Amino acid sequence: MRKKIIAGNWKMYKTTREAVQLAENLKKSLVNIKNTIVVLCPPFTSLFSVGQAIKNSTIKLGAQNIYYEKEGAYTGEISPLMIKDVGCQFVIIGHSERRKYFNETDAIINKKIKTALNFGLTPIFCVGETLDQREKGIAESTVISQVEKGLMDMNEEDVLKLVIAYEPVWAIGTGKTATPDVADGMHSVIRKSLSKLYSSDLSNNISILYGGSVKPDNIDALMSQENIDGALVGGASLDSAGFSRIVQFKK
Ligand code: PGA
Repeated sequence: MRKKIIAGNWKMYKTTREAVQLAENLKKSLVNIKNTIVVLCPPFTSLFSVGQAIKNSTIKLGAQNIYYEKEGAYTGEISPLMIKDVGCQFVIIGHSERRKYFNETDAIINKKIKTALNFGLTPIFCVGETLDQREKGIAESTVISQVEKGLMDMNEEDVLKLVIAYEPVWAIGTGKTATPDVADGMHSVIRKSLSKLYSSDLSNNISILYGGSVKPDNIDALMSQENIDGALVGGASLDSAGFSRIVQFKK
């Protein structure tokens, strides 16, 4: 059985006080959630406090990025050791905003995924095509190439520990969700490529999340798709009522 995961990517929003408030509200409203793993990914500055706020709950903590070294003279960077130290179990890697604004390449993402796994963190490895790539008819080949390069030189045992998030760039923050069919189709393409690279066993057992304008009113249809195991939610994760509804999706 693949795990169901709903992760909130808070991006560069919320001061520590606001972040703690949101986490406390979610802790209250999600007290009975059992079969879905809920992950909150606040900015680095709020990780410790949010971690404290969700203590003694089933909600998990994740970071939005890491550097691929344990420590060193890397001004401004945060290491996997540091996010573990504040209680993170998950880390988002290769988000399209990092690829676009911070020039993260597939090779850098590959290093980050490997380092995260070495530190016992679960990477949420993001892939997705731009509108231009979709219009040129190269959406599938783009995503397959991101998967292959991001997982370069990794063995089956390690890859089984990570989560993949398909986030079409044209759907992020735009209000344009991929239709459930389109999303499911790409998830199936990702599964086929994993099956070729590794095994059908691995491809059947890895959780693949969808991300891009996930909202309370489209989550049920997305989660009803065979290949969609959860969601990586940006904007709608900043509101506790909305995010609670997303977590409590109906299939
Ligand atoms: P969105 O962001 O839900 O605001 O579209 C998703 C993401 O970037 O992870």
